Formats: sequence, structure tokens, C-alpha cells
Amino acid sequence: MHAYPYTITISSEKGGVGKTTLATNLAIYLKAMHEDLPVTIFSFDNHFTIDKMFELQKRTDDSHDVHALLMGAKAGEVVETGQYGVGFIRSSTELGDIHERFKGPMTLTKMLAESGISGIVIIDTRPDLNILTQNALYAADRVLIPVKDLPSLENCKNIFALFDQRGIDKKSLALLPCLIDERIKFEGIFKDQKTLLRAIAVNRGYRCLDSYISKSPKVESLNTNPDGKIYPILTHARGTEVHGQFMEITRDLLRSVDATKETRACLYHTWLLEKEAHKKESYLARLEGLAERCLICGAVLAEAPDDRSFYFETSDRSARGFLHGNCVSSMLCSTLYGMEENDPAFGSARALVADKATRAVSLLLPRIGSSECRLDYRQFNMSGEQLLQKNVEMPGFDAGIFNGLHDRLYLLLNEALAGFEGTLRKESWLSVYPVDPANPETVLHEESYKAIHRLQKHFAEEVRQSI
Ligand SMILES: Nc1ncnc2c1ncn2[C@@H]1O[C@H](COP(=O)(O)OP(=O)(O)OP(=O)(O)O)[C@@H](O)[C@H]1O
Ligand SMILES: [Mg+2]
Ligand SMILES: [Zn+2]
Repeated sequence: MHAYPYTITISSEKGGVGKTTLATNLAIYLKAMHEDLPVTIFSFDNHFTIDKMFELQKRTDDSHDVHALLMGAKAGEVVETGQYGVGFIRSSTELGDIHERFKGPMTLTKMLAESGISGIVIIDTRPDLNILTQNALYAADRVLIPVKDLPSLENCKNIFALFDQRGIDKKSLALLPCLIDERIKFEGIFKDQKTLLRAIAVNRGYRCLDSYISKSPKVESLNTNPDGKIYPILTHARGTEVHGQFMEITRDLLRSVDATKETRACLYHTWLLEKEAHKKESYLARLEGLAERCLICGAVLAEAPDDRSFYFETSDRSARGFLHGNCVSSMLCSTLYGMEENDPAFGSARALVADKATRAVSLLLPRIGSSECRLDYRQFNMSGEQLLQKNVEMPGFDAGIFNGLHDRLYLLLNEALAGFEGTLRKESWLSVYPVDPANPETVLHEESYKAIHRLQKHFAEEVRQSI
């Protein structure tokens, strides 16, 4: 079965609130308190704290880092098992160009969903709300927002606003008072920093964890030592209150992980797969109703599959199918320029017409009056701009007379648009789209067919206005 991670993002626009300390130590506590659970951590920051804390040996090349992950590398190639049994991805200073790639908000969710990483993923972010941070926020089952004072609490509103803008449920978001100086006491009901911060947070409608993290000189000193290492709280600050606080937060998180049946990554992946299946179904349905023959020459297309260079569809969608490139260009040559096939110039004229036709969409709108029949022929580019319009007489069309010149046109119109009793369906028309003869069916794929659908609607409007 495909594995999906439970994702925890640590985010705050304010710098120095303890994000990285929280992210790295949580990874260690989670692993220590639940040994069987894979824990993977990475950071969008360029401080290399993650590397310093978790690497077992020095980095040798740049190809297995966060940059590589975001460029699409497989998780298995970039996640390393590090100190304390925590999986980590090395940091990168080169994330500038990634912003281009990450225009959409769900790119990272998709990557994590497809990564096959199981257990818990912890993402440490930069002190901003750039597109990478946004991706990390939307991917998270839990977002922890450290707040240490009023300005950092003030900043939270931007994260909440982001979720509101996108209409995403904010239940994943929770504030965590950090760097709380226990020596500071106030008079009145808000007796200390954490009580005050929590009260303001709740008053503004933000969820705030019951736990908090105290400011501790011991914890602060873990970054600064002659070895140039960064030591974990679990191993080097066991005697502090912060140690107990981390245990409490970790327990709380593990309970959430246990209670979560489907993580964000899993839900998103299921949705993606359903969308793909739906696309495939629509494609198959579109393939199904295609005409068996080229309506111009009458050949069975399964027997003459080469040169299927055009796709046609009628206004009511009741007839659809492929036409041979040669059949269409010959038809246009005689229809538009009145040339017969035995004309010595027919070949070169047809080549010219064919060249034009493969770059334009043709609209064929028969206008059958009581005294005469005409064809309103137009060419459009794929943006729907009209390139050409021609009015063609169709002598003998209503009488069913074939005179050689218009035979192909009459056949196509009759086959595609005929209603009961041999007359054409009222106000019906058809359009002919150039397709790639090597892979004509791709025109029916979701994305390309969308363009056709749009143009058909546009033509319907043009026709309605011209009648
Ligand atoms: N509980 C704590 N007690 C004392 N000092 C702490 C505590 N947590 C973090 N610090 C110190 O506060 C400083 C900022 O912490 P940290 O780097 O984790 O913040 P950050 O939010 O990741 O910063 P940035 O926004 O720059 O990435 C560091 O020097 C760290 O050692
Ligand atoms: Mg940091
Ligand atoms: Zn044909």
C-alpha cells in the first residue's frame, strides 16, 4: 500500500521565535518516544542547522538536498538517515529559482503525497510567507506557529488570512507560546507572558496549544560550543523545564497522528487519482462515439488510419470523427477555388490550401434558403479570431445533384448534418480542426479537448448572431 506522511509545519513570519529549535527537537522527541515511527525533517532555511544537528558525515555533493527534492527528485534519493535515527534532507542555499516552479499552492502536497515517505514529516520554514512557506502550510496536517510576544502574535493574522483567502479549513493551525520568560509576572488576571499571549490569541479566534516552551539559558547554550555542533534538548538539557514541555507537546502530537485516519497528503492524492480517473473516463467516452468512416471518401478509418489529419464535430455533437488530410484539402480546393481535380494546377493549389488548413479551424455553416443554397465558410485561429470568410454557392445541393465540383463538400455536409427526410438539421453546422496525424486521438485528451469545447461554444455564439 502507498504510504503517506503526517506533515507538521513550523511557521512564523517573525524571525528568532524558536521555529528551528522547535522543529529539530520535535523530530528527536518524536523519534525517541515512538521508535518505530519514521521521522523526516527538512528546512527551507539556509542556516544549515538541520545538517549540523543530524548529519553523520559531511556532505560531499549538492545533488541530494532540499533543492533536489523540490526539483522533483525522489524522496528515497534525498532522505538520509541521520543522528538519533531521524531522517533528514540536507539544506540548500539555492532555493531562489524554485519560486518559479512553485506557482501553485499545492505542489509540495503533491510531492509529499507521491513521495512514498511514511511516518512524520517536519518542515521548518523561513521567517516569511513566500510561496514555499505557503506550500508547506497547505501541506500540513498540523501547523505550529511559535509566538513569543505581541508583535509575533500580530503577525499570525497573515497566516490565518492566507487560509481564509483559499477557503482552507484553519483547524490545522495552532499557536504555541515560545521563549517564555517565567520570571516575568504581571498584576491582575493575566499573571504571566503565556497567559497574556494565550488570552489575546483566543480573543482573536486563534487556537492556542495548552503547552508552551520556556526560555532557558541552558537551551540557548546548546547552539554555542567549541565543537561547532548543535546539541538536542533531549540529550543535553534533560534537567530543564523545556525538556518536560517538549515531552508534553510530543505526546499531544502523537495522539493527533494516531487519531488521523487520512492525512492531507492521502486526501490530496485520492482526489488527484479520482480526477485522473475521471479524465480517463471522459477521454474513453469521447473516443467511443467517433464516426467509423472518413465522411468525405467513405473509407473505414480503421482500415485507412494514415493521414487522419482533421477532427470534425457538428454543432449538436451528434457526429464527430476524423477526416483524411487529403480529403479535406481536396474538398477545400474545389469548394473555395472552384478547381476540379483534373485541373493541372490542382496539385499545387491543394498543397497551398492544405498548408493553410492545417493551421486553422474551419467552420462550415450551410444556409439553405427556398431559392438557393449557400455555404458560409470561415476560418479561425485557435484563439477564435476569424481569419477568413467566404460565401460559396451550392448549386443543386437541395435537389441532391452531384456535379463533380462540390461532391466532397456535399458528401460531408449530408453525412454529418442530415436530419430526417434527407434535409439538413436546422441551423446546424460543423467545424473541422487540424490534428497531429501521428497521434490524432490526443485531440480528445482533457486539455486539448477543452480548447475545442471552448471554440465550439464561441462558434455557436457567432452563428447565433449571424442568423
Ligand atoms: N527555549 C529556548 N530558550 C532559550 N533560547 C532559545 C529557546 N529556543 C530557541 N532559543 C534560541 O533563540 C534563538 C532563535 O531560535 P531559532 O533559531 O530556533 O528561531 P527561528 O524562529 O528558527 O529563527 P529564524 O526565523 O531566524 O529561522 C536561537 O539562538 C536559539 O538558541
Ligand atoms: Mg529558523
Ligand atoms: Zn477520406
